[in-house]
Amino acid sequence: MGEQNSDEVAGIDRAAINAMRRSYGEEGLTESAIAADPIIQFQNWLKAAAENSVIVEANAMVLSTVSDSTPTSRTVLLKDVTQEGFTFFTNYNSRKANAMAENPNVSLLFPWYAMERQVIVIGKAERISESDSASYFATRPWSSQIGAWASSQSQKLESRAELEKNWEKFALQYPEGTAVPKPPHWGGFIIRATSIEFWQGRYSRLHDRLRFTRDSASANWVLQRLYP
Ligand SMILES: Cc1cc2nc3c(=O)[nH]c(=O)nc-3n(C[C@H](O)[C@H](O)[C@H](O)COP(=O)(O)O)c2cc1C
Repeated sequence: MGEQNSDEVAGIDRAAINAMRRSYGEEGLTESAIAADPIIQFQNWLKAAAENSVIVEANAMVLSTVSDSTPTSRTVLLKDVTQEGFTFFTNYNSRKANAMAENPNVSLLFPWYAMERQVIVIGKAERISESDSASYFATRPWSSQIGAWASSQSQKLESRAELEKNWEKFALQYPEGTAVPKPPHWGGFIIRATSIEFWQGRYSRLHDRLRFTRDSASANWVLQRLYP
């Protein structure tokens, strides 16, 4: 481990990090071009990201939660997006699930750097129904279904061997080709958005930032441009 103030860190020197910058493109995001509905705008950008050969896992999003006044972030995969909200799946006993039970206010960040784009969603997390979780669980590959049984996500694990032993135990219990029930500790969350911000990188750091906020009285989306 190098010292914190050394000019050299393993693999890359500090001057190289400092020199990292790109100039962003000409493609803008204007009030006239953006969809009037932010979910439709999001779906358009998600489709473009999914079709971009440079972007891997276009549906990956950084979920940030706050509990005990402490923020934590991690990546999860978006599995559905509708007018109702943004859905992903996880372990209901995990650190993130406990955080959302304590404080449902979360943010989601989609980092589509290769397209000079970022979307930030702020909203409230809610569990989806057991039957919707079970329907989605049934579509997962068998090995992932067994993985969901085998992992006490976020709990201390003594060794990798213990995890693999768990996986084998459940693989014997629910052999490949049979229907694997959804573990009770596994399911989906939906994030109901109150704010959705679209960021498009532009020249001279004059980026476009357009943010939709849901008006609490009318439930209509209100669009604002922000300084970058
Ligand atoms: C690309 C990527 C996708 C991931 N997708 C999920 C996911 O959909 N659900 C999930 O529970 N964890 C997913 N993870 C793992 C989480 O980032 C995290 O390590 C795990 O959920 C435990 O988080 P927690 O202890 O804060 O609850 C993913 C990680 C990466 C890098």
